[in-house]
Amino acid sequence: MTAMKYRKTIIAGNWKMNKALAEAEALASEIKRELAEFREADVVLCPPFTALKAVGEVIGDTPIKLGAQNMHWESDGAYTGEISAAMLRDLYCHYVILGHSERRAYFRETDTIVNRKVKAALAANLVPIVCVGETLEEREGDETEAVVRRQVERSLQGLGGELGRVVVAYEPVWAIGTGKTATPEQAQDVHALIRSVLASLADDDTAGAMRIQYGGSVKPTNAADLFGQPDIDGGLIGGAALEARSFVDIVKAAK
Ligand code: PGA
Repeated sequence: MTAMKYRKTIIAGNWKMNKALAEAEALASEIKRELAEFREADVVLCPPFTALKAVGEVIGDTPIKLGAQNMHWESDGAYTGEISAAMLRDLYCHYVILGHSERRAYFRETDTIVNRKVKAALAANLVPIVCVGETLEEREGDETEAVVRRQVERSLQGLGGELGRVVVAYEPVWAIGTGKTATPEQAQDVHALIRSVLASLADDDTAGAMRIQYGGSVKPTNAADLFGQPDIDGGLIGGAALEARSFVDIVKAAK
């Protein structure tokens, strides 16, 4: 489905396990200097947990929003090392990245776990950014459609009327941190597929209003072509989000 685009672009910087406190504050300050008045797209910074409070204080009441990179699905209890949705809300997080391929691959997060987390995030009034995407082996084996369909259906099952609040991020695993970006056409094909799966989980209007980000080696030089595709509504940016200049240039490519 490639209906008219009326969705606000959303660009999120996923800092992963980078930036100690002072570095995080410095990066957020530089980004704020350039984007404090920028309203053409929603901008989200996702620093590590340890820098959430400080980055939140830097961005203050600008339109830039705060996001976390993960959370647990329970609200509290004996889960050593984990962080709950309410704890993130306490720090004024608006967003949380869930089911990133690094979490799926290195920490064995399944679609079932991601689904629990999505429900807990929505219940706490956080907007989940739910990541899906195929590996190189799966793409070469012609399994992209089946894999992405399964991840979307299972990660987002049973959300009822809340589904529309979710942001989906299509991140082909072979493009993450590799410098190999999906072509705009390759990405568009999968985004259109994701939107049709969302329509089957809800309805055309809900799916048509939901934002689907692309992630995987987005750079200032390829951002505009990607974001110009009918079903691509912004980006989830890793490496290029660690430097203010490249992140700001990517954000400004979104119109
Ligand atoms: P990358 O990472 O931009 O460094 O490829 C994207 C991501 O993992 O979210």
